[in-house]
Amino acid sequence: MTSGRLAGKVAIVCGAGSVGPGWGNGRATAVRFAQEGARVLAADIDAGRLEETVRRAREAGGDVEALLRSRQARIPLGFMGDGTDTANAILFLASDEARFITGTEIVVDGGMTVRCG
Ligand SMILES: NC(=O)c1ccc[n+]([C@@H]2O[C@H](COP(=O)([O-])OP(=O)(O)OC[C@H]3O[C@@H](n4cnc5c(N)ncnc54)[C@H](O)[C@@H]3O)[C@@H](O)[C@H]2O)c1
Repeated sequence: MTSGRLAGKVAIVCGAGSVGPGWGNGRATAVRFAQEGARVLAADIDAGRLEETVRRAREAGGDVEALLRSRQARIPLGFMGDGTDTANAILFLASDEARFITGTEIVVDGGMTVRCG
């Protein structure tokens, strides 16, 4: 249940996750604004941290739409990649299987370049 004090307002919170196990400024702000009834657009570079913020905001009765969700919907493969996907591409380029590949690039973006480009 929200207080409704910020109903009709929109809060955009960047860095809405938290590096540590606690709250962090962004997470605390996002959850607090959601608690007060604002529509919170939360963004973070780390999907897991952002999901935790969204979970806590919903637990507190807020209505959070993570920017991540709308961004995910625009990615042709339907999900956010992470550092592992980039590392796997690098591993391939460094491997014997890629011995005849040079002077080119591999785009690791879930198809965004093809979609937007
Ligand atoms: N915690 C404190 O007591 C304190 C005091 C003074 C200043 N600060 C400053 O406030 C800021 C936040 O610190 P904190 O401890 O509250 O948060 P934190 O470091 O726990 O979390 C910051 C969040 O920002 C995200 N992030 C980093 N780069 C990003 C980017 N480019 N786009 C989107 N998200 C991004 C991270 O993934 C992380 O979830 C830092 O600059 C810190 O130096 C913190």
